[in-house]
Amino acid sequence: MTQSFPLNAWYAACWDAEATRNLLSRTICGKKIVLYRRLDGHPVALDDACWHRLVPLSQGKLDGDNVICGYHGLVFEPGGRCIHMPSQEMINPSACVRSYPVVVRHRLVWIWTGDPALADASKVPDLHWQDDSNWVGDIETLRLPCNYRLVLDNLMDLTHETFVHAGSIGDASVAETPFSVTHSNDTVTVTRWMLNVDPPPFLKKQLGKPGNVDRWQIITFQVPSSIVIDGGVALAGTGAPEGDRSQGINHMVVNTVTPESESSCLYFWSFPRNYRIQDERLTKSQHQNVSAIFRQDEVVLTAQQKAIDENPDKEFYNLNIDAGAMWVRRILAARVEQDSARGLSKGTLQVAPAE
Ligand code: FES
Ligand SMILES: [Fe+2]
Repeated sequence: MTQSFPLNAWYAACWDAEATRNLLSRTICGKKIVLYRRLDGHPVALDDACWHRLVPLSQGKLDGDNVICGYHGLVFEPGGRCIHMPSQEMINPSACVRSYPVVVRHRLVWIWTGDPALADASKVPDLHWQDDSNWVGDIETLRLPCNYRLVLDNLMDLTHETFVHAGSIGDASVAETPFSVTHSNDTVTVTRWMLNVDPPPFLKKQLGKPGNVDRWQIITFQVPSSIVIDGGVALAGTGAPEGDRSQGINHMVVNTVTPESESSCLYFWSFPRNYRIQDERLTKSQHQNVSAIFRQDEVVLTAQQKAIDENPDKEFYNLNIDAGAMWVRRILAARVEQDSARGLSKGTLQVAPAE
């Protein structure tokens, strides 16, 4: 089976607060990686297999900025080079583990899994609502037993809200309203405006005003696997579609999904809002509500992956509602293709020892 995820890309490895002075083991794009923080606070990501006998470095310990393997005591510096071997003066120059480019941005630690020469920090997905002081929301990680693209499909097509999330955010207007799709080389946007509709219970409560609303869902994908959903409602006819959201409420669903393997992924999400931002109880209750909604998605996605595995000879059919997801899959397939044209597929990257 061809690998479904591009490697020349930034993926979220963990939340900023999870990278500490303890060794954290993660699987990212099929690679075992150990993460920690240097004494100056900068995060480090190394292959989680010792050069000597492949014992996970995450089972070792930190000594200053370096990792000591827990088996025979080889010491590796943050660049991945071995700087100490027991019982010998000479250090084999090939003794190194791969060190990955890492960037901290928008409350997440991002790792570049491809050719380090191509790692451009300006290409980290824009999830700024997570650290913008005008927005507030809690964060959460889910580990889902499915291919990461199933999560992207799910988020690009919110028609499923009508059926999976009936009673909270889903009602007939989502599935009945047409939408538009635009795309570039690395983004896809799905826009849906539901004009003069009865708001679903969750949003009605947040708005706190009677009457029909204009409701929007503007979904933006950024390569390789981040999706931000700009959502909200404003009193009907008060100009929200033209840009005046003052009579409404606005939240973002910020999602980034990191493949662990072809059949599991880490799903980092938050639900920032820009109203009543001092209200911590509201932050907590909104997070709980959205978390319960995502548990409903988890049930569907788990069952979907199982059915895919049980039906290897069957394919997906595409409908109009899949237009956004299809563009996402096309962009990802093109990125995987580019990787293999560069000779970069799983396990083939040769990394020279650090100088
Ligand atoms: S396996 Fe790491 S030092 Fe031997
Ligand atoms: Fe959902």
